[in-house]
Amino acid sequence: MRTHYCSDLSKDNVEEIVRVCGWVNSYRDHGGVIFIDLRDKSGIVQLVCDPADNKKAYELANIVRNEYVLKASGKVRLRGEGLTNSKLKTGEIEIVVDELNIENSSKALPFMIGDKNVGEETRLKYRFLDLRNSESFEKFQMRSKAAIACRNTLDKLGFIEVETPMLTRATPEGARDYLVPSRVYPGEFYALPQSPQLFKQLLMCSGFDKYFQIAKCFRDEDLRADRQPEFTQIDIEMSFNTQDDVIKVGEEVLKDIFKVCGYEISTPFPRMAYKDAMENYGSDKPDLRFDMPLVDVSEIFERSNNEIFSSIAKDKKKNRVKAIKVENGDNIFSKREMKGFEDFVRKFGANGLAFFQVKEDGLKGPLIKFFDEKDLDEIIKKCDLKIGDVVFFGAGKKKTVLDYMGRFRLFLAEKLNLIDENKMEFLWVVDFPMFEENDDGSYSAMHHPFTMPNNIDDDIEDITSIAYDVVLNGVELGGGSIRIHKSDIQQKVFQKLSIDEDEQKEKFGFLLDALSFGAPPHGGIAIGFDRLIMLTTKSSSIRDVIAFPKTQRASCPLTKAPSRANDEQLKELGLRIRNLEKRG
Ligand code: AMO
Repeated sequence: MRTHYCSDLSKDNVEEIVRVCGWVNSYRDHGGVIFIDLRDKSGIVQLVCDPADNKKAYELANIVRNEYVLKASGKVRLRGEGLTNSKLKTGEIEIVVDELNIENSSKALPFMIGDKNVGEETRLKYRFLDLRNSESFEKFQMRSKAAIACRNTLDKLGFIEVETPMLTRATPEGARDYLVPSRVYPGEFYALPQSPQLFKQLLMCSGFDKYFQIAKCFRDEDLRADRQPEFTQIDIEMSFNTQDDVIKVGEEVLKDIFKVCGYEISTPFPRMAYKDAMENYGSDKPDLRFDMPLVDVSEIFERSNNEIFSSIAKDKKKNRVKAIKVENGDNIFSKREMKGFEDFVRKFGANGLAFFQVKEDGLKGPLIKFFDEKDLDEIIKKCDLKIGDVVFFGAGKKKTVLDYMGRFRLFLAEKLNLIDENKMEFLWVVDFPMFEENDDGSYSAMHHPFTMPNNIDDDIEDITSIAYDVVLNGVELGGGSIRIHKSDIQQKVFQKLSIDEDEQKEKFGFLLDALSFGAPPHGGIAIGFDRLIMLTTKSSSIRDVIAFPKTQRASCPLTKAPSRANDEQLKELGLRIRNLEKRG
């Protein structure tokens, strides 16, 4: 129907007869001449309907309202002197309408197109309107290009795309499963996959050698800005390979994807051991767009004559005392503000947050009385302090201190505007522990239980694994590992996780079986595709790059999912709902 997209027109088209189609973004009547901003996926162009040029078109223009759908043709001309709009790509020209067709009308809108100050519930209820703007379109265009680039790169590297089931059994990635009741077997359920993990391993057992899939995954977990219950992974697996091989493939895929998204990134990415990431940045996904590391001052605090600090600092296995320096902080923050930061860290389990100001005559703060001169000098040296700086301290259980000091580091960076939004800082975090202790003293697999341990017969705390995460600007983009390909090692890992033989057989019998029929050494990675696009499009929420996302409460206001099943359906599935409560 059209000769051009609205935003494709420019000075080069002056004097040409063109036809454009789109929606009325706005209209105004200026002294008997009607100006319409017409919008399509590319942007906006101005239509001019002047009764002197064409009376019929002018009369039709008189009845159009916002979001009416138009087809308009006419001649492109330069806008008059002083009438150009530098904010608009097509701001130098306009179309003098010769023929106007109203293709459809529109009811009054629930919100203005492109208005960001609308509640999420309403935006998602009318998601088709929420997306009706070129900024959103460009995000999805980038998403599409990225998926195509990913497929091309993996194809070039010899990977084949294989689809794996959606109706399956639980796959332990650590979240709750979405269950689907079976009609044929009442009382039994499929689980939607949390990832294709076990299937891709089985494909390696089939000798497929190099697999990938742009795969849908489902996890019933608490949602955040970078989490959705239904999301997409670039899922990769290969055989007869080392960690370095997977890392190389991951880097090549990311490099090519970033290229089509307009970024030249350099590879290889730096690597950091998990232990160093935790000790120096308080996170297994450190944001390296700024430095500001945590400094360990346990030894100095151990010598202090404050009993609480020294006893915490003494137990170096369980506890930590960490410092973080803010350059020139004493001149930036008031004392009141510094005290106020305690409220932030308390939310994450801190008992308090001590600080020293660095004055001309040395360190100042209520705690200095607990240290001798030599140790105060040692603090200055170890934290590299200068006059005007301020240094904060957190002391307590290792896990808690690293967590809140890591968060405090991010909090300070944001407050001090230390983050360069244009930077793309990639990092591989490697050498993960195999297990992590839960609050109740039991253990979970840090990645998943199919990860190859380096030293399975050691103490559970000391067992490390061949696992790796790729991090970008403090966001975990992806994770993977070399897998266990021998059933005896797999069984030992299950034992450490207190999964007894019956449960092993019941839940993972098929995997153990596959491993016992000549499984090759193999490993892979999964990269969160939505997160990746969130970062390349500089979106603040993952929901901006998913066409029909769920709310924070995992519902879809558009389709009103989830919804009740009727009695007939429930009966067929052999289900009865207890304690039926109306949704608030
Ligand atoms: P993992 O659980 O680390 O590994 O997931 C890989 C990546 O998927 C993304 N991701 C999510 N994105 C949006 N919403 C979510 N709820 C969500 N959960 C995870 C993250 C994450 O880094 N099977 C293994 C991979 C492997 O070992 O090969 C797995 O799924 O970006």
